[in-house]
Amino acid sequence: MHQEEKARLIIGGKTIELPVLTGTEGDKAIDISELYDEHGITAFDPSLGSTCMCQSTITYIDGDKGILRYRGIPIEQFDRPQPNFIEVAWLLIFGNLPTRRELRDFRDLLTANEMLHEGLHRQFGDLPPKSPPMAILSAMLSQLACYYEKFLPLGDDELFIEAAARLISKVRTIAAYSYRRSKGLPFMYPDPALRYCANFLHMMFSIPYQQYIIGEEIEDAMNLVLILHADHEQNCSTSTVRVVGSAKANLFASCAAGVSALWGPLHGGANVEVIKMLESIHNGGMKPEECIEAAKDKTNPFKLFGFGHRIYRNYDPRAKILRAAVDRVFARLKTKDPLLDIARKLEELALKDSYFIDRKLYPNVDFYSGVLLRAMEIPTNMFTVIFAMGRLPGWIAQWKEQHDNLTQKIIRPRQLYTGNKITGYIPIESR
Ligand code: SDX
Repeated sequence: MHQEEKARLIIGGKTIELPVLTGTEGDKAIDISELYDEHGITAFDPSLGSTCMCQSTITYIDGDKGILRYRGIPIEQFDRPQPNFIEVAWLLIFGNLPTRRELRDFRDLLTANEMLHEGLHRQFGDLPPKSPPMAILSAMLSQLACYYEKFLPLGDDELFIEAAARLISKVRTIAAYSYRRSKGLPFMYPDPALRYCANFLHMMFSIPYQQYIIGEEIEDAMNLVLILHADHEQNCSTSTVRVVGSAKANLFASCAAGVSALWGPLHGGANVEVIKMLESIHNGGMKPEECIEAAKDKTNPFKLFGFGHRIYRNYDPRAKILRAAVDRVFARLKTKDPLLDIARKLEELALKDSYFIDRKLYPNVDFYSGVLLRAMEIPTNMFTVIFAMGRLPGWIAQWKEQHDNLTQKIIRPRQLYTGNKITGYIPIESR
């Protein structure tokens, strides 16, 4: 990033010169970081849609062109035979694709940390069976701080790598156990002989004395889903992790906060809403055409879930990859899902409707991810948990990037006060 030109702000009869920063791809940002301290003026941007909260080298998005790159590598290049989520996790966190040795050592660290402390394990038994898996995930990630206190101090690189491995490995076990708890099934211990996604599917679907047979197409599809969700620059949950981490909160607490943000239906919870929408159409609740009209009706809170994005004004490149992956998986499983045909019909109607065209609303990552997860027999209440499993390396990478920036201050935005002028206390007798 370099600084050359200046921006001029004319306000209150004075002209203020502000530095202009230029990013790798030529994107420009006016540096207002000293505006308040030097001039007592703030900028107003309640959803931070025009505000850069950091400089980052991790992920690049061009919303107009539908570009997404992890450490400069286009997302499309990870859609390859035997996609590998763990190598992408390493790439995001440490900045380069791992060597064979780095990948082997990291895998060993994940395997060494795949079990849960028996104390944490026992807590699942006390949870109500219908506990939302995202509530369990957020609570259990926070509790890791109770069992692994040595990872709480910040700053030790060796401890950081192990803390990151613990999080990435244990989130998978916690996710599987939350599903097993909801079904009243016995927990399946992780199998150290299995790779990351295969082990997750084993813990989800094996039953005692009947090992789940993991098809290569399902294992590849799970790796691809997690890769596509791994990072997305400063989205709602990632910026939450950064805000919490800026207070020097530990990695476990910061990622647990990210889980809570991701749970929202406008963010990570959207893939669940997409399936509900598709099922409602399938069950005769409404026709695709009625769904489109409802989404356009401003008096109706209904949204076309899986469509639109804060940044993409083009087809989300992840949705394109998922759209193709769904076809591949159904072809290899020789199966079909009527919800896929409905999704295709909704996409066709929306993409030729002026309401969506004018507003540049296209399918986002959530539009097809749910249909693909259904093909893998993942239950709907686990979709957002899978999103969190995928996003965890991105949260860790962004938390580390901020932690390593020694000039970073605690994130504390200002406000525009529009409340009462000074007034007095009225005793209760007079009210
Ligand atoms: C994720 O930020 C990230 O990177 C997130 C994410 C990640 O990887 O972390 O990509 C993951 O969260 C994807 C988004 C999942 N959410 C959904 O699919 C929910 C449905 N989408 C919408 O709620 C909405 O598109 C948002 C929340 C995603 C974006 O909201 P914005 O920024 O308010 O949308 P906008 O400013 O582009 O809206 C412009 C117009 C508005 O109408 P007008 O006021 O101009 O008349 O488009 C309308 C919006 O009401 N609009 C929709 C719509 N999305 C936007 N109308 C109907 N259906 C929709 N889905």
